[in-house]
Amino acid sequence: MRIEIPREVERFGPIMFYDTQKVYELDSGLRNTKDEKLESTMTRISYESFQEIQKQMVIVVPVKEERIKLIEGVFYGIPHNCLIIVISNSPRDPIDRFSIEKNALERLATFMNKRMLVLHQKDPVLAEACKAAGYEKILDKKGVIKSGKAEGMILATFLAVISGKKYVGFIDSDNYFPGSVHEYVQEYSAGFHMAKSKYSMVRISWHSKPKIMENSLFFAKRGRASEHTNRFLNSLLSHYIGFGTEIIKTGNAGEHAMSMDLAAQLDFSSGYSIEPYHFISMLERFGGITKPIEPQVMKESIELFQIESRNPHLHEVKGDEHVKDMSIAALEVLYRSPVAPEGLKKEILKDLFDRGFLEDKKTPMKDKVTYYPAVMFADLRKFQSALANQPYADLIHGDVTKYVDYKQSVEGLNLKQSDIKRSDPGRLAIK
Ligand code: GDP
Ligand code: CO
Repeated sequence: MRIEIPREVERFGPIMFYDTQKVYELDSGLRNTKDEKLESTMTRISYESFQEIQKQMVIVVPVKEERIKLIEGVFYGIPHNCLIIVISNSPRDPIDRFSIEKNALERLATFMNKRMLVLHQKDPVLAEACKAAGYEKILDKKGVIKSGKAEGMILATFLAVISGKKYVGFIDSDNYFPGSVHEYVQEYSAGFHMAKSKYSMVRISWHSKPKIMENSLFFAKRGRASEHTNRFLNSLLSHYIGFGTEIIKTGNAGEHAMSMDLAAQLDFSSGYSIEPYHFISMLERFGGITKPIEPQVMKESIELFQIESRNPHLHEVKGDEHVKDMSIAALEVLYRSPVAPEGLKKEILKDLFDRGFLEDKKTPMKDKVTYYPAVMFADLRKFQSALANQPYADLIHGDVTKYVDYKQSVEGLNLKQSDIKRSDPGRLAIK
């Protein structure tokens, strides 16, 4: 792959937000290509580099009641060397949709000659493991893992961390084009190839999203909720940097990947706010606004890549209500964050009101989102041993020592996630 270097970078404490990067060649050959000219504005990632990174990568596919043909399509696109973890929350009753999915995927796995993890979100064994790890917050009243894409992703992050691999990427299961799935994973890998720090995140900015408008195909540049989320995330950055910025273009990106070192350290929020919350959690935890920065992270810095994909993005159309929920959830996590300045909160209320999503713009937003601490705050050793007798145990028996060390060093600094008071608007001194 040949990809341009980022034109701009915004620095925020140890966090480096890179501007979007365009891909110039999806495939740019082998490592020892003779005619390779060294260009200072391009990075070339060889075929071999992709393989090396993908051997260390977990790809998580969250599923809920998607058409089997779509899920299968996603599988055709994922590069062979990645370990795939599917977390499904499809109903098991009256028809066992999960069994149908598992069957179909295992059949594919036979043809692909690979092993993967296909698990149900409500599997009591997984709930037991979370309980053993002291992570009961993710369980519902019945004692199984709560429903929701975020909860599925959190569970998958636990499994990815204990697999011992270095990177984890997420791919939605409702994607129509296997080719774009393949491209996303290549772009995750390209980001990790370019990263200098062990803490890095790659987010995909779609080149276009095809829609039917007035009977012909129109390629929209951004999703409906994204415009708003990006605008407010950029206002937040601008507030602290003191200069206007439009650096963030992937606020709602479902397609994203992280180095495991970062994935284990970021806190989560529920529902469709989980993706924009990555930015906010980074600023809360590592931005140095409300508390000192962990020395380890300060030394290394955090790199955020936004890569513009070439394939169009086409997924299931889920209607206006869905866009509304997504938009409200995204702005709620920003609104409730202790790093959000008062002025920005007012703007958020006004924006939601103007779009007809709120009844009035004076009342503070209702707290709908649940927050979850980063995976490293759980007892990963206990989580791992709780699954030691499962048939898939050999896929998740990585060494977790370094995460246990992170936890100890963070706790030594008294920087626990629970320090952050969220429903306390304006209490924390900003600037
Ligand atoms: P959008 O693409 O962000 O508009 O949201 P989608 O509704 O397409 O959901 C994104 C992905 O999450 C899809 O692959 C869904 O199948 C999956 N998903 C949705 N809800 C759940 C859930 O409760 N659990 C799991 N494991 N996956 C879910
Ligand atoms: Co979708």
